[in-house]
Amino acid sequence: MKIMPNRMDRGFYQYQTEFEQKALEVLRSGWYVLGKEVSSFEEEFAAYTGAKYCVGVGNGLDALWLAFKVLGIGQGDEVIVQANTYIASVMGITINGATPVFVEPDEYYSIDADKIEEKITDKTKAILVVHLYGQASNMEKILTLCKKYNLRLVEDCAQSHGACYQGKMTGTFGDIGCFSFYPSKNLGAFGDGGAIVTNDEQIAKDMKMYRNYGSEKRYYNKVVGANSRLDELQAGLLRVRLSHMEELTKEKEQIALTYLKELNNPYFTLPKLLAGANHVWHQFVLCSQYRDELIQYLEEKEIGTIIHYPVPPHLAEAYEYLGFKEGDFPITERYAKSVVSIPMYNGMTEEEQKIVIEALNAFVPGKFR
Ligand SMILES: Cc1ncc(COP(=O)(O)O)c(C=O)c1O
Repeated sequence: MKIMPNRMDRGFYQYQTEFEQKALEVLRSGWYVLGKEVSSFEEEFAAYTGAKYCVGVGNGLDALWLAFKVLGIGQGDEVIVQANTYIASVMGITINGATPVFVEPDEYYSIDADKIEEKITDKTKAILVVHLYGQASNMEKILTLCKKYNLRLVEDCAQSHGACYQGKMTGTFGDIGCFSFYPSKNLGAFGDGGAIVTNDEQIAKDMKMYRNYGSEKRYYNKVVGANSRLDELQAGLLRVRLSHMEELTKEKEQIALTYLKELNNPYFTLPKLLAGANHVWHQFVLCSQYRDELIQYLEEKEIGTIIHYPVPPHLAEAYEYLGFKEGDFPITERYAKSVVSIPMYNGMTEEEQKIVIEALNAFVPGKFR
């Protein structure tokens, strides 16, 4: 039996009838962009996160760059971000012309809050926190720094739908929380989708303007904006999935608990849990100096894995112009060489998980090649 790192079809079949009914309802409605499904989803997702406002956009990257746009952060400004993130976090900063200032991660793969202060300059305008892999970052220290230096706080919650820090949802700590609903995400659509949440009415209004060609009133354009609108079909399907979020998150937690309890092998380490934070297990990430051999070994057993992420943004070709080189962020670079995400998805069967656990526990470097 082949086991893939993610199975999005399983997530569909879990609520097939509801998805199909909603899709037909939207298709038959004759209204496909910015309608009642989008506004209902925005209300429901704001309520889910505990934020006052939600504005749907086209995808997670748009949520990020539009967030910095709305905050007026661009050319000449610096934004602090962890070095070991998905490149979209960094593009959200640089699309506006601002400069990313990288900080090494801690043992939880989150930004190391103790290393932020040394990177703050008079150009620093914001911190972008990424709740990577689904675990909330240490918000207490970050909030203190934002207050002390009067910095904006943007959260990249593309991987952390429903994750809390000390009981408060990620996305609601700062000025803007940015979400992706890419199909593989914990709250996934059936195509691209994204949203921002905020407690600031003006930010919500501006975001609505920017997502729609910079207009509040049709054909009257105040600023140069984007065409980045969550569509009715995705919003309707997201509403279905959102209504099941609690059970979907619990299911992933159960899979993670089983992995944490039953995986036992000195050749890799398990993810560490930060006190006060909760983890919604977008990814279950192992760390091993034998990572590449482990991947090959699992492949031979028809178990798929993914590396999140093999090339850190500071070494990506797209960011050559920033002038970084190998060795500049050793912890990030070590993670890029040693992390691997193992199968984790809603609808994963006990049998599939058992196969993955048995294979991982039997791994010995050098022995199977
Ligand atoms: C951490 C992070 N930020 C941003 C994004 C961008 O989201 P999208 O793919 O919807 O543009 C993703 C997902 O791809 C992500 O994982």
